[in-house]
Amino acid sequence: MKKQEAEFGDVFGNGHDRFGFPDGIHRVTAGHGGEAILICGSEKTVLLDCGMAYCGDALVENLRQTLDGRPLDLILLSHSHYDHIGALPYVKQAYPDAVVYGAAKAQSILIRPGARQLMKDLGQTARDQYKPGSTKEIITDGLTVDVVIGEGDEISLGDETLIVMETKGHTDCSLTFVLEPLSMMFASESTGILEKIDYVHTPILKSYEDAMESYEKCKAYGARFLVLPHFGLLPEDFNETYWDFFEKEVENKRTYLRGLVGEGLTETEIFELYAAKYWDPIKEQEQPYEAFMINSKSIVKTLLKSL
Ligand SMILES: [Fe+2]
Repeated sequence: MKKQEAEFGDVFGNGHDRFGFPDGIHRVTAGHGGEAILICGSEKTVLLDCGMAYCGDALVENLRQTLDGRPLDLILLSHSHYDHIGALPYVKQAYPDAVVYGAAKAQSILIRPGARQLMKDLGQTARDQYKPGSTKEIITDGLTVDVVIGEGDEISLGDETLIVMETKGHTDCSLTFVLEPLSMMFASESTGILEKIDYVHTPILKSYEDAMESYEKCKAYGARFLVLPHFGLLPEDFNETYWDFFEKEVENKRTYLRGLVGEGLTETEIFELYAAKYWDPIKEQEQPYEAFMINSKSIVKTLLKSL
């Protein structure tokens, strides 16, 4: 593994570099929010997610430098959230021939004016927070899926292949990709986000049952390398621990909520307690408070339904 981004710290205390990808895989993330990973295959290049809109120009610059004259052939979307694909319109402007792949549900969501407006509003909030004083217009034209992909689809990059897994739970449009023959899984948010060495956030916004099915499926795949959203690469010997953490944390949250229901609290009261318990200013690095509150409301609603 090549040391690429050692400045991001020794999260595991053992010298592991969470952005130390093998040759041909590059972190091109340009700001706060979701990661943007560029894979340069033997024939094709592919960008996995784009990050937030406010850093779209910086992302394009990272892509130009890293691609070093190669075209950008494909863009794959893990799901339709603003912090993962807000910068897509800027990438499309710079690389109009790049073909965008995503779930059918993402395609239908992204043509809705209401969804685009929400993307714009959250994109502006993020811009104002992470780049104060910026007047950069948050554009949403270009937020489109050109080619619909789903479970079991294989996307050839030449000698390498990306296998598509539908992993609903966080959203109905969440996709996981596995790069073979390397056996590197780029997991979706349905199967959690490692926020601390001993804490996995479980952003199950849409369906508890779907999220648990996604968890079982991803764990059973047994990929050698696990790349987590908002985090990067896990040390290989941590994979099993990670899956255990995920499963336990989902149960912890459900137990906590079951207790509040038992006390006779209303959903609004439960939500307020949940938000106070789980908000941590450190989250502000990845997500403005407004976005946290929107997500928390969905998580509480979804997990209450599962009890
Ligand atoms: Fe998300």
